[in-house]
Amino acid sequence: MGVLVRPESMERITTRALAEAYIAEQIADIKNQVGDRKVLLALSGGVDSSVVAALLIKAIGQNLICVHVNHGLLRKGEPEQVIEVFRNQMNANLIYVDAADRFLDKLAGVADPETKRHIIGEEFIDVFAEEARKLDGVDFLAQGTIWPDILESEAGIKAHHNAGGLPEDIASRFELVEPVRILFKDEVREVGRALGLPDSMVDRQPFPGPGLGVRCPGAITRDRLEAVRESDAIVREEFAKNGLAGKVWQYFTVVPDFKSTGVKNGQRTFDWPCIIRAINTTDVMEVTVEHLPAELMDHLVQRIIAEVPGINRVLYDFTPKPPATVEYE
Ligand code: XMP
Repeated sequence: MGVLVRPESMERITTRALAEAYIAEQIADIKNQVGDRKVLLALSGGVDSSVVAALLIKAIGQNLICVHVNHGLLRKGEPEQVIEVFRNQMNANLIYVDAADRFLDKLAGVADPETKRHIIGEEFIDVFAEEARKLDGVDFLAQGTIWPDILESEAGIKAHHNAGGLPEDIASRFELVEPVRILFKDEVREVGRALGLPDSMVDRQPFPGPGLGVRCPGAITRDRLEAVRESDAIVREEFAKNGLAGKVWQYFTVVPDFKSTGVKNGQRTFDWPCIIRAINTTDVMEVTVEHLPAELMDHLVQRIIAEVPGINRVLYDFTPKPPATVEYE
């Protein structure tokens, strides 16, 4: 399975029936590969790892051990949704690790974007490796590698996260299970829907590995991070209410590390601005800006100012890519 390539003749999975056929085939392959042995999976709650989890639960049930690491930089409600969907609804064997304090302590005072990314990546591997070392008799590691990951690593664009960059003592213990390896993203979503995952999980907008950390530019503080998380939740809720959730590629907020003066209830305030960004793209190399209806824009300003502590100004980012990247770090 590890060397499987997508056959050129493979039909694109665009219907429920094709997705169901793929699922049946994968379940048989997984049972064949794994037998009654155990599989470990880092379950972020993103589309790829969620679909891999759902497939493996169908194939091997409790012999799949999912580890969900909350690094404290997830969006509002995400860890709760992972627990609800996988532990409560699908009866998965799920280990939930609340590592938020550990990550935020390591990140305290670190302002350089690349250093922040590096710390988050390293810490994630450390936490996952610690959990893996506690487990006996696990022979397989499942990964949500998808076909574009393989193509990009072959083209030298990005390193394929083979065995997730795990230390050798852990990586060498495992054989890989990659049941969505030959699928494109839209096919992974189709398979996820056929597996019964909720739309909010299957149609999720892209979310960077370092999470809200890159939307809290400079040194992350807990209060500013909360302002990012709360304002993001408001934007997501309003996009969903206004029928934009499935239409706009990516939408989120950023709370930069500077303050400006304002006035509230006759008192001077000195608080952060909140920047809203909403973009469309097909390949994320070139990005255009979504122009929101004026009433929605006004409503977002009112809600964010009223509901998010520490914000006294709301701005909209009208910059395409290039010249600006999607994320701020
Ligand atoms: P940029 O900021 O490079 O973002 O224009 C392009 C797309 O990639 C996402 N992104 C990431 N995704 N890990 C990820 O998995 C990351 O570190 C990361 N950085 C950016 C970004 O959200 C956008 O969709």
